[in-house]
Amino acid sequence: MSVLRQSSRRQSSMLNSSISQGSVLKSFISQSSIRKGSILKSSICQSFARKSGVGLCALFSVSLHAALPPLNIDPVKAELGKRLFFDTRLSGDDSISCSSCHIPANGFSYPEALSPAYTGSDGFRNAPTLINTAYKEVWFHDGRIGTNLNDVVRENITEDWLMNMDMRLMQERLKQDPIYVEMFKAANLGEPSNGGVRKALPEYIKTLTSTNVPFDKGELNLLAKQGEQLFVGKGGCSQCHSGPLFSDGKAHNTGVPENMEIFIDPMRHQSFLAYNMFMGIQDYLTLKRDVGAHVQTHKADGSDRGKFMTPTLRELSQTAPYMHNGMLLTLEEVVEFYNQGGGVDSNKDPRLTPLSLTNQEKQALVAFLQSLSGDPLVGNQYEWLEYDFGYEYTEDWSNARN
Ligand code: HEC
Ligand code: HEC
Repeated sequence: MSVLRQSSRRQSSMLNSSISQGSVLKSFISQSSIRKGSILKSSICQSFARKSGVGLCALFSVSLHAALPPLNIDPVKAELGKRLFFDTRLSGDDSISCSSCHIPANGFSYPEALSPAYTGSDGFRNAPTLINTAYKEVWFHDGRIGTNLNDVVRENITEDWLMNMDMRLMQERLKQDPIYVEMFKAANLGEPSNGGVRKALPEYIKTLTSTNVPFDKGELNLLAKQGEQLFVGKGGCSQCHSGPLFSDGKAHNTGVPENMEIFIDPMRHQSFLAYNMFMGIQDYLTLKRDVGAHVQTHKADGSDRGKFMTPTLRELSQTAPYMHNGMLLTLEEVVEFYNQGGGVDSNKDPRLTPLSLTNQEKQALVAFLQSLSGDPLVGNQYEWLEYDFGYEYTEDWSNARN
């Protein structure tokens, strides 16, 4: 365990230094072998716990998760991405920027159950944190994009209920801003272009990674340590929340109750309907439940309805409320939800059964979850604090290129 902790510490201190591809690969390999070993350990531990009731897992020195591997970042591109992230001109009517829904002080998520949306609409999903999202392989609550961040960024810019931006107009808007002309050039991206935006924003997103996390530093207090044992043992949490992100990257049905705001509020309902129609859900007009990952798997028997991607458990202290629709407001509520065996749904994952946790055990689980959160990513390093998004008249207009 201490070896693992030490190597985690070394890795996180390397986080911002740029290192060769080879060593990134090596660190991934070593982590996945760590993970395999501990998954085995945790499943032995779980079967003990199931048979014996409480506590036996404490016999194992369980340490499931390595710290996140370092990312190779191009600082000039990332700086350009930072300015774009805070610029409202990336939305169709110049009213919202990425940071309107992914707010830095809220762990780059939104502090209400459901996200805001583009002018004239309202959102029907919880805005997820962007911290550590660069490590994911599949994005969105329903897992509908599994290619790369570049595509995820395009979706956020163009989707009508997100920023509703026409990429051709965006390109011309950016070209009218001399600061962007300079910044794109400096980042080796040529003239401002859609392709350049879709490279620079992911580069900035790569800078949003957990820092100073008690768990990664091996600084769990006694209560959190007990919570860690429950997490892999009696709680069975690591069956789905595994690996450095505490996510298996898969979709499961946990029976989270529906957020009725989506059906009561016409502003939300219209975006919900339009989205489901666009995703080819035949009975979209009569839906009274978010179908989740069914939009990608389209199983005829509907058994994939209500599955959502396992989210990361890092930075939870900054990102309440929880779940794809924000229905659980606090970590205490989440733990109580699992204690009762999850919610009610005919497709619910059979691994979710009542846990009979004592009050003290519930507190321990919450303490463990809290130990996975680090410092807020705010200030100059992460935010474009200067408001310099206005235009100026082009003086030498007859010779100006753009
Ligand atoms: C109007 C609110 C809003 C705006 C503006 C917005 N987003 Fe999002 N973003 C969301 C919501 C809501 C989701 C989740 C949607 C879903 O799961 O269906 C999301 C998802 C994402 C994801 C996937 C995260 C994950 O882990 O699955 C990324 C990355 C992202 N947004 C980046 C951006 C960027 C970059 C911008 C600016 C170009 C942006 N967003 C603008 C609301 C917004
Ligand atoms: C069967 C797989 C599975 C198991 C077991 C499981 N989870 Fe989850 N967890 C999920 C999925 C899927 C979601 C997302 C559900 C949604 O968005 O509606 C989730 C969401 C969460 C969230 C909300 C995160 C956020 O940012 O919204 C927390 C916290 C959480 N789980 C903690 C736990 C704990 C603690 C346990 C053990 C007591 C546990 N989970 C067991 C699959 C699982």
